[in-house]
Amino acid sequence: MKVKKAIIPAAGYGTRFLPATKSMPKEMLTIVDKPAIQIIVEEAVAAGIEDILIITGRGKDMIQDHFDNTPELEAVLEKQGKAELLKIVQDVSNLANVHYVRQKEALGLGHAVLCAKTFVGNEPFVVMLGDDIVDSDIPCTKQLIDAFETYQCSVVGVQPVDWSQVDKYGIVDVEEIKDRDLRVRGLVEKPALEEAPSNYAILGRYVLTPEIFDKLQNTKPGKNGEIQLTDALRGLLEDQGIVAHNFEGTRYDTGDKLGYLKATVEMGLRHSEVKDRFRDYLKTLGESL
Ligand code: UTP
Repeated sequence: MKVKKAIIPAAGYGTRFLPATKSMPKEMLTIVDKPAIQIIVEEAVAAGIEDILIITGRGKDMIQDHFDNTPELEAVLEKQGKAELLKIVQDVSNLANVHYVRQKEALGLGHAVLCAKTFVGNEPFVVMLGDDIVDSDIPCTKQLIDAFETYQCSVVGVQPVDWSQVDKYGIVDVEEIKDRDLRVRGLVEKPALEEAPSNYAILGRYVLTPEIFDKLQNTKPGKNGEIQLTDALRGLLEDQGIVAHNFEGTRYDTGDKLGYLKATVEMGLRHSEVKDRFRDYLKTLGESL
């Protein structure tokens, strides 16, 4: 079955980025000139996704406004003859069919995914975390959908992380299938270094079969009282296979201050409008670092 739907959980509190995220959704933090969540929606569209559900919460209305029409602004740009900017503005609202549902309380990623049950129905679907962006030649989501089409089971996007960082991620126990594909034997959420079965971390992209919803409904709150997606995936693994795809590309956690700065600098160095002047500027800094 073709994967046509994606969900983007974006209802978290973003406590790692306070005070910026006190009233501003972290998913709206801009990387050069685009909010992180727009970069994610563009990735979904480039992977052939037609319908996107964003899981929002209180204080996140700005996300909806961003993907809506802006008649007053468009009228001004038209009047001023700024055709290029008008196109940029209109393209954002025409990117995809974007839908919304509210997670009434931020009870964890698993709970956020469960809010998409009605939207998803009985089809495989993509999950893209609202603060994880991936810069790659082939869209990361496309790489995962290709793996789904090959193996016809849930696929988690992984990359090896530094061993000192394994306690920050969902970690998979794996054996090699071929190339970048690994068969998942087990999953553990934020293990201590000595308990980590590998250093392959699940990094913000999944293709899931709809059976995950039954598992989520039966998953008890774990760490911090949150319903963990990793726990439900462990339940799914008892019934179905799961493949981990070691995706190509650079992943940035823009919900983390350092991750955000890295994304800004590296994507600034690739931005067609500012890259040359930005590189020259960074060189002047290099002398004083
Ligand atoms: P994070 O764990 O990075 O989000 O979740 P957080 O809880 O907002 O972050 P900190 O640790 O407090 O800074 C990854 C993604 O899942 C969403 C977040 O919005 C983020 O995009 N999420 C998380 C939800 O939608 N609902 C939740 O209950 C938790």
